[in-house]
Amino acid sequence: MVECRKSGSLKGEIQVPGDKSISHRAVMFGSLAKGTTRITGFLQGADCLSTISCFEKMGVSIENTGDTVLVHGRGMRGLEKPEGVLDCGNSGTTMRLISGILSAQDFDVTLTGDASIQKRPMKRIMDPLSRMGADIESLPGNGCAPLYIQGRPLTGIHYASPVASAQVKSSVLLAGLYADGETAVTEPSLSRDHTERMLGLFGADIASEGTTARITPARELFAADIQVPGDISSAAYFIAAGLIVPGSQILIKNVGINPTRAGILEVCRKMGGDIRMLNRNEGRGEPTADLLVTHSSLKGTVIEGDIIPTLIDELPVIAAMACFAEGETIIRDASELKVKESNRIAVMAQNLTAMGAQVQETDDGLRILGGRPLHGAVIDSHDDHRIAMTFAVAALCSQGETKIQGGECVNISYPAFYKDLGSLIQ
Ligand code: S3P
Repeated sequence: MVECRKSGSLKGEIQVPGDKSISHRAVMFGSLAKGTTRITGFLQGADCLSTISCFEKMGVSIENTGDTVLVHGRGMRGLEKPEGVLDCGNSGTTMRLISGILSAQDFDVTLTGDASIQKRPMKRIMDPLSRMGADIESLPGNGCAPLYIQGRPLTGIHYASPVASAQVKSSVLLAGLYADGETAVTEPSLSRDHTERMLGLFGADIASEGTTARITPARELFAADIQVPGDISSAAYFIAAGLIVPGSQILIKNVGINPTRAGILEVCRKMGGDIRMLNRNEGRGEPTADLLVTHSSLKGTVIEGDIIPTLIDELPVIAAMACFAEGETIIRDASELKVKESNRIAVMAQNLTAMGAQVQETDDGLRILGGRPLHGAVIDSHDDHRIAMTFAVAALCSQGETKIQGGECVNISYPAFYKDLGSLIQ
């Protein structure tokens, strides 16, 4: 249980930990490359440590010295059959991306994880991978993990994905690295493109046009130096806190602002939020900037359509922020939120209601009528890190005390979250 209460203004400078999506991919691609990949700014969160442990179990030597991680790659055909099952913990990215790679190896493997991941849909990767020739089975038979994969030769496909999901796209593209012929994935709208950007740095022949990404099979990948920018999904809690807590001004240093991730910045600006971008840097592969966030009076907005995949993980904290905005905020086209670490539509509606907010759960989102004062409450995080962090932020502007059950789950993506938040409180 974590206890939070109303705070004074937030002031100062903060550096959020490395991007979770990019950290996972750097370990995975480094493991398949020839040579040593050096990763700086790696996120030392439980999810990314699950990825490291899976590749170590397949014979990859990985030196994790804190901020820097060295991955001594074994080449595309160098992975070994692990002893026992591979445990992906709470990490959907680990399970779905690794499945694409494992579908093409010359060994069999079982993938499992915690209670939450065993409820998340895996059919979305099983379908396209099976069409490529993969032998992949849900052991409980319900389309969920544990998954059993027997590696096989694969054939390239052009997959029209029904969901805008970077995990599905990446899983298929990684299988495509090993396939016979080109593989392409077309999505209904563009999801985060870290795989496309980073595989290029490792020497893969990969290109994107609109919402289609194509890859040709690779003979080898080559080690790269990867500098992981700060995670905009972690920065989101400080953006929201800075905007809603009166008198606040926060400088968030070195945040990844890849356009396929930065939808929150556009939405905050539409809501009247004062966010300035300083020190923009195109970077090698991923653009970054410092974000200067100043308290603002916000107004409600509509969030729908193609922007949704670019802020999908930030919607819980955006919903909380909307409670402090004038007028109504409507979130639509976001039914993917139901299959995240928790059902984030239901869990947000339940917990915001407990704090006195006027919220309505809809089939594909939420409607929030802002402007009503919130009060502290007992919050059930459902062991979902983004829910816990969202309510720590909401608590800063709510009367009385908020108790977050399972609040320790922030270790999935941001182990020092409460300490960092506390360091800004005046
Ligand atoms: C991720 C993709 C998104 C996101 C998740 C990380 C990734 O999931 O919600 O936190 O690293 O590819 P989906 O692919 O299910 O949308």
